[in-house]
Amino acid sequence: MNNYSVVLLPDKKTVEVKPGTGLLEAIQKAGIPLKSTCGGQGTCGKCTVKVIEGNVSGGMGNIPAKLKEQGFILACTAKVEGNLKVEVPAEFRLHEHQVLLDDDGQGVLKERKLDLLQGFAQTPPAQKIYLEMTPPSLVENASDYSRLITELKKHLPKTKFAISNEVLQDLPEILRAGEWGVTVTVVLQDQTAEIISLTPGKDESPVYGIAVDVGTTTVVVALVDLITGKIVAREGTYNKQAGFGDDVITRIIYAVEEQGLGELQRLVLETVNELLDKVQKEASVKSEEIVVAVVSGNTTMTHLFLGINPKYIRLEPYIPAASDYPPVKAKELDLKINPRGEVLNFPSVASYVGGDIVSGALVAGLDQSDELVLFIDIGTNGEMVLGNKEWLMTCACSAGPAFEGGGITNGMRAMAGAIERIQISGESFEVQYQTVGNAPPVGICGSGLIDCLAKLRRAGIIDRTGKMQEIASSRLRTGSDGPEFVLAWASESGNKQDIVITESDIKN
Ligand code: FES
Repeated sequence: MNNYSVVLLPDKKTVEVKPGTGLLEAIQKAGIPLKSTCGGQGTCGKCTVKVIEGNVSGGMGNIPAKLKEQGFILACTAKVEGNLKVEVPAEFRLHEHQVLLDDDGQGVLKERKLDLLQGFAQTPPAQKIYLEMTPPSLVENASDYSRLITELKKHLPKTKFAISNEVLQDLPEILRAGEWGVTVTVVLQDQTAEIISLTPGKDESPVYGIAVDVGTTTVVVALVDLITGKIVAREGTYNKQAGFGDDVITRIIYAVEEQGLGELQRLVLETVNELLDKVQKEASVKSEEIVVAVVSGNTTMTHLFLGINPKYIRLEPYIPAASDYPPVKAKELDLKINPRGEVLNFPSVASYVGGDIVSGALVAGLDQSDELVLFIDIGTNGEMVLGNKEWLMTCACSAGPAFEGGGITNGMRAMAGAIERIQISGESFEVQYQTVGNAPPVGICGSGLIDCLAKLRRAGIIDRTGKMQEIASSRLRTGSDGPEFVLAWASESGNKQDIVITESDIKN
């Protein structure tokens, strides 16, 4: 049977698929990042598209009534049954996600003039060392490698050394080309120095590393000059795995499917490599100059990043494949840094307390504190650590996907048009809002939801249980899900629909 062509609008991208292929799969094949909070179960109602021309079967599920009336369907439950033209509206895509890269100047760190890195000894995981050796002779005839290690030990005593056959192959010519002067780049871990590269003579060019935060929703890459310790470029975006569900459980379920694990690993590496490309261009740094990557993520994300099956993390008694991860060569992962570079992953504590919380607790200095400290990480997964230098306790829960828009009538990620702050004033409860990118409002994101709850409560619109109170305002009304409060009217919104928060959203 012939393939069908699916034209995706407004991008005008075309993909060829077999009859009966899922429409969501076709859209993903075209590289269009459609939201799919529930990972294609037909329950979140986020993968909404409109068929302009042609036939699909299915397409129903938990789709909001208003969208259904307008002819929208769910891509995850629809199958391609002919040549198609499909519109994928901007508000249902994952792109242009706002990623928090740094304290934006409004944070408590700036207010209190706190520098978290103050007091940290600079111990870069990679360094360049210049060595000068006595040339060999008939009397002093040690091998090139022994000669190199003897000199290196003067700089790095009590260290074991490792070298790959590939670097060893280059050694004789490089030593002679530099007339027995050579710059050695080493990556250090657990008292072992791996020789990554050799340059003839004195090479004073910088050496770089990357710090990677692999979040369930977002990924951030920071390029660090390992000599000065300064971050020279930083970029973030959404995790491309998000097309297969918003939370770790949905991702684990997909990973267990045939080719699911490989696909999820490919997508996260593609995300990191694209960010790498951007930071390299920004700082004019070549990939060979980046010799180490330090990666932190929750336990599931780390498993997926390394291509380790996370299946047993979600099955009682919830056991990860590993909590400590061995170093991996960049070329094994196809991470676009120096192929001989090392990839070091932060250790996890348990199935749902990963390297992300470990790195956060480390930087916040919890293990050094005399006072009792509570450290909270609110992400798609939420974790807490309580303790001080004598003891630390931790626990985790699922904080998302409510904060990413899942289960919220007008919920969305922090993309252009997401309401992120509101003010409610006056007797008629007038609302002023601020949106991401100052675009007309199309929904409300996680920060907006938290702010909204606080302001609704302060204005007396909800009580402490989240129940809506009787107030004299046209903004409070009864919708199909019960009481709701209008944050933005259709006339001012970017999608010509009222943007509301409902009592059941608050419960969610
Ligand atoms: Fe389609 Fe959730 S309803 S991905």
